[in-house]
This record gives sequence, C-alpha cells and structure tokens, in this order.
Amino acid sequence: MFKIGVMASGGGSNFKAIIDRIGEGDLEAQCKFLITNNGTCGAVSHAEEFGIPVYHISGKTHPVVADYETAMMDVLNKYDVDLLILAGYMKALPACMIHRMPDRILNIHPSLLPKYGGKGFWGIHVHEAVIAAHEKESGPTVHLVSEEIDQGRILAQVKVPVLEGDTPEVLAARVLEQEHNLYWKTIRDYAAELRS
Ligand code: GRF
Repeated sequence: MFKIGVMASGGGSNFKAIIDRIGEGDLEAQCKFLITNNGTCGAVSHAEEFGIPVYHISGKTHPVVADYETAMMDVLNKYDVDLLILAGYMKALPACMIHRMPDRILNIHPSLLPKYGGKGFWGIHVHEAVIAAHEKESGPTVHLVSEEIDQGRILAQVKVPVLEGDTPEVLAARVLEQEHNLYWKTIRDYAAELRS
C-alpha cells in the first residue's frame, strides 16, 4: 500500500480532505503520521480523530537545530513513506529532509504559481496581492518541493475567478474549496506516475 506522511501547521482542512478520501477509498494510500510545529492546531485534532500518530516538532520542543533535524529525520526513517505531503506547513523544511526525499515531497500553494509565490507570499497575503494586482483569476497549485521556496515542478493547478468586490478572505475560501478537490487527485496521479 502506498504510504504518505503529512506535515501541517494550521486548520488542517487539506489534511482532513485527504484522509477523508482515503477513508472513502478514492485514494489508495495509508497516512502514517502527522508532523506539526503547532501542537494545538486543527490538524492535530483531525489526526487524533483518525488515530494517526502525531509528532510535534518545533523550535520550542527542540531548541537545538541538530536535535530538531534529527527528530524530523527519525520520523521519516521510522515510516519510510512514499510521499511527504505538506498541507499548510508554515515553516521551511530543513535541507536534509529535501535531500532524503528528492521529488517525493508535495506542497499546495494558494496561487497560480509562479505568480505570487516565494518570500512573503503566504496565507492571506497571497490573496491580498492577487486582488491588489486586479487579477481576473487565481487558484491553487500543487508542486514538488525543492530548496527554493515555491519553485519546484508544478504538478497541477486549478483556476478560479477573482470576482468584483472579492475580499482576500472571500477569495481565500473560494481557492481553498478547490484545494480540497485538487490535492488528493494530484497525489493519486503522481503516485501512478511514480509507479509507471
Ligand atoms: C492553504 O491555503 C494552502 O494552500 C496553504 O496553507 C493553507 C492551509 O489550509 N499552503 P488548511 O490548514 O489545509 O486549512
């Protein structure tokens, strides 16, 4: 069975959408762990509900960088997952993790990359910038993770309209709805690509 691990920092709606699809049999995979840097985030509640082991690893739990990186690598080595899925993980990954899993780490970003990606473009700031630039469309991107933030190979995108009068919050909600449809399908398709 295809094995995935997930990393998340926030509400965890993408994580929940993925584990729901696994539960429904649409995505043939097992989720082996959640790594979070925020022990009280929504993603942790979802993991507990589904009996998925949670590893809280952050600068607080592991103040020494070497210990922090070892803790991360220990989880990767323990489960040896096929893909690592970043689902709203708000911290850059240590390079050792990226080197451990080349072309095996996916991220979802709430803009049509390469637009509105990289430094400073996270969370609501992405949607603020899209609206300020009077873009007519936006939408999520799933991409491979490389050492340059938001610059890895694009696997899939979905366009959504930016409507007259949209606030950043309204646009964020419209994009997030599409993220939930897009991420599990992209994992499924990329898993098939890796097998072929
Ligand atoms: C999403 O907008 C995603 O694109 C970005 O972080 C947000 C995570 O949302 N990387 P959630 O925690 O999955 O609800």
